[in-house]
Amino acid sequence: MIRVLGIETSCDETAASVVALDGASAPDILSNVVLSQIAEHAAFGGVVPEIAARAHVEALDGIVAAALADSGVKLDEIDAIAATAGPGLVGGLIVGLMTAKAIAAAADKPLLAINHLEGHALTARLTDGLAFPYLLLLVSGGHTQIVRVAGVGDYQRWATTIDDALGEAFDKTAKMLGLPYPGGPNVEKAAAKGDPTRFAFPRPMKGAAQPDFSFSGLKTAVRQAAQAIAPLTDQDVADICASFQTAVADALADRVSRALGRFRTEFPDQHEPALVVAGGVAANRVIKATLERLCTTAGFRFVAPPLKLCTDNAAMIAWAGIERLRAGLDEENAFDFVPRSRW
Ligand code: KG4
Ligand code: ZN
Repeated sequence: MIRVLGIETSCDETAASVVALDGASAPDILSNVVLSQIAEHAAFGGVVPEIAARAHVEALDGIVAAALADSGVKLDEIDAIAATAGPGLVGGLIVGLMTAKAIAAAADKPLLAINHLEGHALTARLTDGLAFPYLLLLVSGGHTQIVRVAGVGDYQRWATTIDDALGEAFDKTAKMLGLPYPGGPNVEKAAAKGDPTRFAFPRPMKGAAQPDFSFSGLKTAVRQAAQAIAPLTDQDVADICASFQTAVADALADRVSRALGRFRTEFPDQHEPALVVAGGVAANRVIKATLERLCTTAGFRFVAPPLKLCTDNAAMIAWAGIERLRAGLDEENAFDFVPRSRW
């Protein structure tokens, strides 16, 4: 039995979790506590790093205590502490990793410095027991990537955004249209009442040989459309949101379908290849349905872990810790590890 305490503080969620793995049986999420700072940042229309770091300092001890209490596991029964050490906002990373170092030192436990993206990359093995290799589409407020996941610590980025992250494009579009933060869910809500054919927004990178994403041109097109018809009625806002969302889904489908093709070529013997989606944008029903259709057509299994495990959380960090322990990849002395905002 391995039991790991995970800590996540890289953005605007203060989170702690205990995950257990007993032999060959499915892993158990014994607790998963997430405190969102959305209310603290809403007035500013985005995450303010200084406010985030202070909020983590105030909340983290209580969140860790709650995660231990919920799990029914005592600190001395924990096998290791795993904390996000990057990438992310450096203030939050310092708070999380230093707290983890202090707990690990005081309780005399091993410490694992985890890459936040590795947490997202391995989540589908926690939730669905997925076998390597598979493809990951990570679409969040900070990241837009396609990653080939071939083993613990064996990741290859096949595509990334050359400008805005997709969640950021949703958030900026919402802001331009006067919708509240965070923008993604509000754009989706407005889009449900809109006409997706009213505006012919660009599909950035569609058909391009380069595998990457781009969203800033789309954002500019939205701004120009909004300015051209201002002042906007509720129906105008809904139509822009619907047209934007359709353009995003279409552009995404083009980029992902390229990657599915490449995966087929590189792993021709993989009988049931899979695409995993992670990140907050994966909550979007139109995007999810588009990707699901694409996978069905291409003969890929579509894996969308439950939303609370594919947005930022500490269960994925604890799980990455377990995967590293099992793979013997815990040799680095994490007590010397300095948080890396870019990693
Ligand atoms: O993964 P996440 O919770 O946090 C990080 O960025 O790491 O992702 C948050 C992002 C935000 O940009 C938010 O606007 C977007 O995910 N998002 C959505 C939806 N729900 C959240 N975007 C589109 N449609 C949604 N329903
Ligand atoms: Zn994340």
